[in-house]
Amino acid sequence: MRILVIGSGAREHALLLGLSQDPSVSELHVAPGNAGMEALARQHKVQVDDPAAVTELAQELGVDLVVIGPEIPLVAGVADALRAAGIAVFGPNKDAARIEGSKAFAKDVMAAAGVRTAHAEAIAPGAADAEIEAVLDRFGPTWVVKDDGLAAGKGVVVTPDRAAARAHIDAVLAAGNPVLLESFLDGPEVSLFCLVDGETVVPLLPAQDHKRVRDNDEGPNTGGMGAYCPLPWLPADGVQRIVEEVCVPVAKEMVARGCAYSGLLYAGLAWGAEGPAVVEFNCRFGDPETQAVLAMLKTPLATLLNAVATGTLADQPPLEWEDGYALTVVLAAFNYPDSPRTGDVITGAEHASVRHAGTARNADGELVSAGGRVLNVVGTGATLVDARDSAYAVISGIELPGGHYRSDIALPAVEGRISV
Ligand code: GLY
Repeated sequence: MRILVIGSGAREHALLLGLSQDPSVSELHVAPGNAGMEALARQHKVQVDDPAAVTELAQELGVDLVVIGPEIPLVAGVADALRAAGIAVFGPNKDAARIEGSKAFAKDVMAAAGVRTAHAEAIAPGAADAEIEAVLDRFGPTWVVKDDGLAAGKGVVVTPDRAAARAHIDAVLAAGNPVLLESFLDGPEVSLFCLVDGETVVPLLPAQDHKRVRDNDEGPNTGGMGAYCPLPWLPADGVQRIVEEVCVPVAKEMVARGCAYSGLLYAGLAWGAEGPAVVEFNCRFGDPETQAVLAMLKTPLATLLNAVATGTLADQPPLEWEDGYALTVVLAAFNYPDSPRTGDVITGAEHASVRHAGTARNADGELVSAGGRVLNVVGTGATLVDARDSAYAVISGIELPGGHYRSDIALPAVEGRISV
């Protein structure tokens, strides 16, 4: 099978690694890719959110399958264009990608499907000051303010500070996007990725992301600073409950609306007193959870993604997983998540457990930072402690001037501080 992967992050690096281990894969391409993927795939330049350009590239390369990593091309309709050209694609069409692209659409689907989620109210650009203050009055003492445009997980501010909530509302409205205010869902967070092919839903291992930039969940939200899987504190029927109470009803509702889902449905949940409630959906694999989840998958990845793309997921045997745990730690650039500095030389990253994200080569061929989240290290082990030790042993040997990472990924779980 010849495969083209669209994207350039650590998630796509992990996908390429997984695909390269499937004997059915004969050729791997990536567009645009990053410096860590040089040995895995042929790299191509393409405007990833241009449906015609991606389709033309896939046709030129004669690939059998296109795997779309990020949400922006999905929301832009790249999967639609590929399907229209007769090319198998892993990723939902534009209509179905609204589950991530429009928080208001996702709320509507959940209401119709009877799925538990936070109460939400929208504020449109141009709203009067008094209206904004009245909405703020109806929420709190913790305000959850979401940018209802695509923000790749970075457009959410969760704060006990009303002035900070107001400042984020003003910034999002000034950018021309609507705002959603949501009631705060209490309880530990779970990311459950499901392969969805119409009404067929196959869950991967449950994972937990760490979104704040600093240890002890301090500092601003980021795209994710680390993750681990599976979750030792989740009830034994936890995954089954999420599938039955959340993912299957949503998949059925999408079919009923004429926008059947095909691809990866990412349910971001809080496990509260009544069980799982949805914080958000994404229409793609999550980053950095994917790097940990795929490190545990034994089932050949290309065969699986191709089954979703060709509408045959229901015919696949049950997934097989490694025993134990996997953990990802993100190395971020100086000043991330504000205005990350780029161009810093990275040394010590030549290790099989490294997944590249924002990396490039400078004119001298040195590996340099080229984004906010620069790279990840994935550790695995029989216990979470072993997985932590393995990841931190590698990341502590990588040099990036001004770089920073959290030292407490999975620590609350290891110390038994998470209960449901
Ligand atoms: N793990 C956060 C995200 O992928 O959006």
